[in-house]
Amino acid sequence: MLVFVPPHPLIKHWVSILRNEQTPSPVFRSAMGELGRLLIYEASRDWLPTVTGEIQSPMGVASVEFVDPREPVAIVPILRAGLALAEHASSILPATKTYHLGMSRDEETLQPFLYLNKLPEKFTDETRVIILDPMLATGGTIVAALDIIKKLGVDNSQIKVVCAVAAPPALRKLSENFQGIHVYAGIIDPDVNEKGFIIPGFGDAGDRSFG
Ligand code: PRP
Repeated sequence: MLVFVPPHPLIKHWVSILRNEQTPSPVFRSAMGELGRLLIYEASRDWLPTVTGEIQSPMGVASVEFVDPREPVAIVPILRAGLALAEHASSILPATKTYHLGMSRDEETLQPFLYLNKLPEKFTDETRVIILDPMLATGGTIVAALDIIKKLGVDNSQIKVVCAVAAPPALRKLSENFQGIHVYAGIIDPDVNEKGFIIPGFGDAGDRSFG
């Protein structure tokens, strides 16, 4: 597993807005969407299949390259909070299909519980998948999501995980279990407390996004 924290001032900006406990819910949600836009842009660099050809511009013939529309990227937001991070995915990427996964962490045991699965029965060999979840804390949720997605026939090199903040326990689990997966994070924080919250983190991203 490789983790990328793109060193961009806009990413730092939106992370800082998310950090602030005074940020109201609509602003928090829109900051999460903007952060998602930038991280998806980075995650899709050198990864999308393209088609080339020639096209007539008003002034002459030009070589062109388009993102191949025949191979939509599978966007998998993990509800609820992943919805905010995925807000602009379909406006950045020319061809996407969205498959929702609803997972909720038990407040006592911190174990994830799957309550919605809109994934298909199988992905093709060419399918590229971007999983979006704002927080990778203990890692239970992302590991459970990846276990489900891997059963649909996707190679690790075809999977990217996009998160706003990641913590060491989650990154450890990912590197032990999913070689070759790339993670794009807005920031990496040092700790997870006994209640499963990332420290300093953003608090509860689901509650802060949706009230
Ligand atoms: C939060 C967060 C992640 C998960 C991370 O979701 O959005 O999905 O916890 O924790 P983990 O790495 O320890 O598993 P939550 O269960 O609070 O659901 P929500 O998005 O509906 O608020």
